[in-house]
This record gives sequence, C-alpha cells and structure tokens, in this order.
Amino acid sequence: MMFRGKEHLVWSLNNYLGLANHPEVRKADAEAAADYGMAYPMGARMMSGNSNHHEALEKDLAAFVGKEDAFLLNYGYQGMVSIIDSLVDRNDVIVYDAESHACIIDGVRLHMGKRYVYQHNDMASLEKQLERAAKLAEQTGGGVLVITEGVFGMSGAQGKIKEIVALKEQYKFRLLIDDAHGFGTMGVSGAGTHEAQNCIDGVDVYFGTFAKSMAGIGAFVASNQTIVNFLRYNMRSQTFAKALPMPMVIGLRKRLELLMNRPELREKLWTIARALQDGLRDRGFDLGVTNTMVTPVFLRGELDEATSLTMDLRENYGIFCSIVLYPVIPKGLIVLRIIPTATHSLEDVQRTLDAYSEVAEKLKAGYYKENKFVLA
Ligand SMILES: Cc1ncc(COP(=O)(O)O)c(C=O)c1O
Repeated sequence: MMFRGKEHLVWSLNNYLGLANHPEVRKADAEAAADYGMAYPMGARMMSGNSNHHEALEKDLAAFVGKEDAFLLNYGYQGMVSIIDSLVDRNDVIVYDAESHACIIDGVRLHMGKRYVYQHNDMASLEKQLERAAKLAEQTGGGVLVITEGVFGMSGAQGKIKEIVALKEQYKFRLLIDDAHGFGTMGVSGAGTHEAQNCIDGVDVYFGTFAKSMAGIGAFVASNQTIVNFLRYNMRSQTFAKALPMPMVIGLRKRLELLMNRPELREKLWTIARALQDGLRDRGFDLGVTNTMVTPVFLRGELDEATSLTMDLRENYGIFCSIVLYPVIPKGLIVLRIIPTATHSLEDVQRTLDAYSEVAEKLKAGYYKENKFVLA
C-alpha cells in the first residue's frame, strides 16, 4: 500500500482471502455499478427494497453455512445489535461471553430482561450462569439465549462452540454465534467455526459479516426457517432502513462464488498465517492463545514506547500493523495485531519476522524510552 508516497507492507486489512482486489471481484463490482448505479434499490427490504439478487445471495449463504434460510443485514455491527434486540423479550435471559465484541455488548444493553456474563471461554463459569439462567427462565416462562464469538478477533481464540453445544444435553438454551472472523476462513469448506468444530447443527443462529473474508459491506444471519422469517419481519435495523445496494449485493455474490470454489485462497491464507506464527514463536514471541489466523504479538512496554515502536516500524521498516493498548488490554502490555491475508507472500513474512525481532530487541533495551518518534 502507498502511504505518503512510500510503499508499505500492511498487516491490518480485513481482507483475509484477498478478494478486495481480486480481478473477478473488481470486474463484477464495476459492471454492477455501471448497470444499476448506487441508488437501487430505493427502500427497505419489506417495502420496495427486495430483488432477485438479494434473495439468491441469501439462499446461497444459507446453504453454505448449513442453515435453512438467511437474511441480509446492512452492517454487521448494527445487525448483531438488532438480532439480539429482536430475539429476546423481558422474560428471556441472555448468557454471554465476557470478551464479546462491542456489537454483542450493545445488543445485550438493549435487553430489558436479565443477562449473565460468563468468564471468557470458561465452561465452568458458563455452566454456573446457565444454572442461574435456567432457574430464572422457569419463573418468567422465558427462554435462554447463549451468545459467543466463533473467533475472537483480538486474541484469535476460537469460541468453544462444540463444548457449549454439548451443554444442551443438560440445559435448555439457544446458541447464537458471531462468526465475523470465522466465516470464509474456518472449516474445511470455509463455512465457519461451527464447521471447523464439527457442530453445525448445534448452532441455532449463525451470524457472519461481509466486512472480513468477503472484503465488502453488510452481513447476514442464518438459522431455521421460522427464526429467519421472524427476524425478517422484526429486526428494526432492517425494517426501517434501506436495503443493501445492488452493486454490493451482486459483488457479494461473486465474492461468495470465489470463496466457495477457490479453496486455494483459503489455503494461501493459512500458509501465510502458519509461517508467520511458527516464525514468531521460534523467535520467542508470545502469541497468547491464538488458534486461528489472527496473530497478536504480546510485548511489554508503556504507551509512549508502543507509539514510538509502531512509528519506527512504519517509517524505518515500511511495515504497517495495528497496535492495541490500554484500556483494551492491561497497562504495560502492547499488542501488535497482525492480520494475515492470501495476498501476502512468504517474503513479506520473512521481512516482518526480521523487523519484529529488531524492534522487540530495541524495546527491551529501552531504546524507545530515549528515542521518541512523534506521531505524524
Ligand atoms: C466479532 C465482530 N462482530 C461484528 C463486527 C462488525 O461487523 P461490520 O464491520 O460488518 O459492522 C466485527 C467487526 O469488527 C467483529 O469483529
């Protein structure tokens, strides 16, 4: 990527499969924009905003992720907020993972009934909360909704979907997963984390966004026919908002076709992710608990050191990556978050490993305490 006239190697783009600049995608996007312009359709799905393309995309998505039907959402964030808002009423109880994405937290905030949070990926804590939720639901006559992520986007940890599904033998609940990062990247066919963990049927409501592996905009929710029909007519964010534009929907159909039929794109992503993670671990870097392609590199240092280190990487090594700091993570920790994609090369990996080794040494030696790089 060009940044201020200089070529940079970028590790912070939501483009896992490299579809953003894939020639077939670019062509489909351009042709659809020429055919339809950006204005169509001109209404919400329920009113004048429906089209054969919207319906065909939903049908293909549903079949791909192993559900009966699917419904398109204008944005992932607002879509998830609205799914939660629609699925529960004041008698229902929500049980959710403590490290859930903001869209889950904000959806839960709208809930007028009880909610219990369980410690991140901790099944004993989940069981404790399920017991409390079951007791309460018995009194109110409501149901229990468990919510987690398929792949946690910051740590790279997979949600323990299979273990959660197994708890259905003891507790009555429905499971909603946000698989923003897992859709297109996880599982033998790329269908998602539920496929990777071999528990497709145990997930009652599956959510994926188009903003990561599909390199587009929008999202979808997939489930059985009854739930999808219910959401189609009860999600306020979709009923009262304009449908996804035609060029995006047609472009998404092309992206989905490539995602399903070009496994080499996913294989390339994993080749890069493995080379990167193996290389970093061999050099002694702490990658936390990641068991997916998301690659966080944990370092110790203060906020100003972290800023200088990132600037050093950008200005002197030509490497651009996202940095995560307090208050997202505890004080004194720095996370350099790397998002590998199918468009990276093994040479890019080698260059990054070398650069990371150098800046980590400088950080340890106190170099960034003395050499401040001013943000520019
Ligand atoms: C786990 C998760 N859920 C939902 C979203 C929101 O998706 P979108 O960008 O489509 O609004 C994101 C994107 O950051 C995400 O990481």
